[in-house]
Amino acid sequence: MSLLELKDITRKYKLGQVQVTALGGVSLSIENGEYVSIMGPSGSGKSTLLNIIGCLDLPSTGTYKLGGKHVESLKDSQLADIRNQQIGFVFQQFHLLPNLTAQENVELPLIYKGVWGKERGKKAKEALESVGLGDRVSHLPFQMSGGEQQRVAISRAIVSDPSLILADEPTGALDSRSSQNIMEIFQRLNKELGITIVQVTHEKEVALYGKKIYHLRDGAIENIEIIQ
Ligand SMILES: Nc1ncnc2c1ncn2[C@@H]1O[C@H](COP(=O)(O)OP(=O)(O)OP(=O)(O)O)[C@@H](O)[C@H]1O
Ligand SMILES: [Mg+2]
Repeated sequence: MSLLELKDITRKYKLGQVQVTALGGVSLSIENGEYVSIMGPSGSGKSTLLNIIGCLDLPSTGTYKLGGKHVESLKDSQLADIRNQQIGFVFQQFHLLPNLTAQENVELPLIYKGVWGKERGKKAKEALESVGLGDRVSHLPFQMSGGEQQRVAISRAIVSDPSLILADEPTGALDSRSSQNIMEIFQRLNKELGITIVQVTHEKEVALYGKKIYHLRDGAIENIEIIQ
């Protein structure tokens, strides 16, 4: 059974009299343990697609099955549970809370999950250590480089043991050395922990870490490139 299966997904926005079709009928399946990339010009629907996969947004039409469940029939609270328990998100701009230390940022999803006491701190520290930030736990975001902040964001994404990581241009704000470092972490999470990864990127070098590249154009899959 596929981890996720999208069939004829559309997403339309109404702006006054004008209708914008962000996705015009996308079908794709992703298996457990796959590492896939999504590429395409600006405005082609990449973030829209990733947000639907991440249950942050619902399609206008079409069906989406995640782990065998029909997402469109779930309540908001059930969607929130899926996001908290099964999915880790990584964004271009890190989205760390500026007044919290690295460790406190990483602890946030555990608070939502109801993990308390020493266990929470221990898990957050382990996640930070796993990305080479064991000596940055007390730093605030502004006291870290972009690459380090993104590693904190990855720690936050993996701390609750998700089966799926969704990353929207995770290296878009980083220099090439930090980008490579982030991609090596993703590769390790995929290979060693079997976490499924779906990443959106503009950079071919980054896309090539995936085993499959979906090329989007005008809200549709133009072609699928298989990486040997
Ligand atoms: N909330 C919204 N309301 C109206 N139109 C929207 C909304 N969000 C996205 N769109 C439109 O949908 C289309 C796809 O947007 P999307 O953000 O998915 O593109 P993208 O491929 O991620 O682009 P980029 O590479 O610039 O991030 C665009 O034409 C955009 O203007
Ligand atoms: Mg985008």
